[in-house]
Amino acid sequence: MKNVYVLGNWKSNKNPQEAIAWRDIYLQHANELPKTVKIILCPAYHHLPLFDLSTFPSLLGVQDISSFDTGAYTGEITASMVKGIVQYAMIGHSERRKYLLETDEQVGQKVKKAIESRIIPVVCISDIEQAKKLCSFIPDYAGKGLILYETLTAIGSGQAGTPESANAAAKEIVDILGAVEVLYGGSVVPENVARFTSQQYISGVGVGGASLNAEKFIKIITNAS
Ligand code: PGA
Repeated sequence: MKNVYVLGNWKSNKNPQEAIAWRDIYLQHANELPKTVKIILCPAYHHLPLFDLSTFPSLLGVQDISSFDTGAYTGEITASMVKGIVQYAMIGHSERRKYLLETDEQVGQKVKKAIESRIIPVVCISDIEQAKKLCSFIPDYAGKGLILYETLTAIGSGQAGTPESANAAAKEIVDILGAVEVLYGGSVVPENVARFTSQQYISGVGVGGASLNAEKFIKIITNAS
């Protein structure tokens, strides 16, 4: 049986009051969450203390991690700073590659830092070349982290890719990296999630916009199982 993951990526959204309101709705529905789905919530750093891991029914992740070690790097959040608070770190999201000019080299460096702190990396890739680059930096990546595959045209557009093409891309990624778990991302909603999670090579989904609404996110998790 493959794992099924649902990763919620809040991106740069929500003030503290909005985050608390989301959390409270989510907790009210906690008993509806299927035990078979691994849920990873990736809010912004400053929201993390709102989630008490001993009672919160999901795992936590950050949306980025520094390529530096702890020290004099103003504004950076390093892996050892969030060790014990989060279990996962998204790395190399296409928005960071586009707007912050993050390179494959930096992605490789960040992955190393996450692994050193025993934080599981979720490397985001939007084309097969990026998988090859990751393999060249971290040849044994499979078994150490996850991949979130997201086509640029599907992100935030309301036009998800087809499950079949996502599955074919996931297979290609597995062929390159070995037995890595691949999540699909890009306009995932409650209505389409099962069509992705039922594909052979897809082990879950990454959800941006639809994760901002707690009820919608819960529906995605329920339908993903
Ligand atoms: P979306 O974003 O669900 O809003 O398309 C996905 C992502 O970029 O992680």
